[in-house]
Amino acid sequence: MEIKTAKNEPYPVKVIKGQTYYWCTCGLSKSQPFCDASHQRADMMPLEFIATETMTVYFCGCKQSANAPLCDGTHFSL
Ligand code: FES
Repeated sequence: MEIKTAKNEPYPVKVIKGQTYYWCTCGLSKSQPFCDASHQRADMMPLEFIATETMTVYFCGCKQSANAPLCDGTHFSL
């Protein structure tokens, strides 16, 4: 199954140091940028992200970033 672009820009999220987040890789989740188990329809798995600091990070919304789960600017070229 093809990856679905959830949004053509990143999602800014304040993450908490030490907490684990599961970034949606398939683009089907209704809880973007995080997994809601919709990947079971797409035969894919979420990507784990463990926050090393309490800070705002920019999770990729286009699902094409080479630095997933974080935005690397790839969405500008889509
Ligand atoms: S939103 Fe995907 S690279 Fe920026």
